[in-house]
Amino acid sequence: MLIRIARGWEIPESKATPEAFVLGRRRTLGIGLGSALATFLPKMGHTQQMVSRSHRYDPGRPITPAQIVTTYNNFYEFGSDKDIWETAQGLPMHPWVIRIEGLVSKPRTIAMEDLLKQVSLEERVYRHRCVEAWAMTVPWTGFPLASLIRLAQPLSSARYVAFQSLVDAKYMPGVAEPFFPWPYIEGLTIEEANNELAFIATGLYGKPLPPQNGGPIRLVVPWKYGFKSAKSLVKITFTDRQPHTFWETVSPQEYGFWANVNPEVSHPRWSQATERLLGSDERVPTQIYNGYGEWVASLYPNKKDKRLFM
Ligand code: MTE
Repeated sequence: MLIRIARGWEIPESKATPEAFVLGRRRTLGIGLGSALATFLPKMGHTQQMVSRSHRYDPGRPITPAQIVTTYNNFYEFGSDKDIWETAQGLPMHPWVIRIEGLVSKPRTIAMEDLLKQVSLEERVYRHRCVEAWAMTVPWTGFPLASLIRLAQPLSSARYVAFQSLVDAKYMPGVAEPFFPWPYIEGLTIEEANNELAFIATGLYGKPLPPQNGGPIRLVVPWKYGFKSAKSLVKITFTDRQPHTFWETVSPQEYGFWANVNPEVSHPRWSQATERLLGSDERVPTQIYNGYGEWVASLYPNKKDKRLFM
């Protein structure tokens, strides 16, 4: 008999316990049950911070069911199929440290829990558009990338930020594929990185970010194709050179550094005019900058450059 046990994140959003409640309860338990539990609890995810949803970014679309968002993934370190979620469960999420280096006043290595103590968490529901022309609507928990940049104290010579994902052959079978230029690197200009929409996610549906979605910490850049949003970050480098990014290195004819969503600029092999909303049968028109032009169009005064949209 096949018995399927639902994982912790496989519940509809309506049933998910709000993070604020979980954190409040954790605090109560920590006091009631003493230090053994108190030392265990921080390993489960966020530190004791209240999280509320920012309605400033309401997506105008229903949230995609968690069951789809957490089982239909692109994460090539685990394999090139969409169903890597089970393999990804083996990746240890704790301890996790992130290196901040390059053109900063003081390069350093920071533990995830120490980073979380220095930022304030919020929930943002963003449209998430893959270059493959599917889209989801995702409730991320996290903090603005600009807060991390403030902590990093970049020098005035820093013009770009590069994001590097973990490579660990022990847990990631995909990295044995020598065709790909591991590690996965992505990059933004410093102006893009400081834009209020650029987000560092540490949670999903009010829970810690699961490994298949880039746990414990990833980038989210909602006006760009999903491949810009590097997962499972281990290094953030401030630099004066445009980073050589993963997909641009694999196939420069198809993927560029900028990768802003644009319905009018087709991928060489398919149109970007419409997108398939996962979880429904609907195909809807693609919006320029994924509908976030109000916040980001001013970043790109030279819109005639087609490479801005690849
Ligand atoms: N980050 C890493 N390290 N490896 C990847 O393969 N895939 C990208 C991006 N970040 C990828 C990555 C692509 S193509 C997309 S569409 C999104 O992650 C998918 O994020 P999701 O699985 O959470 O929907």
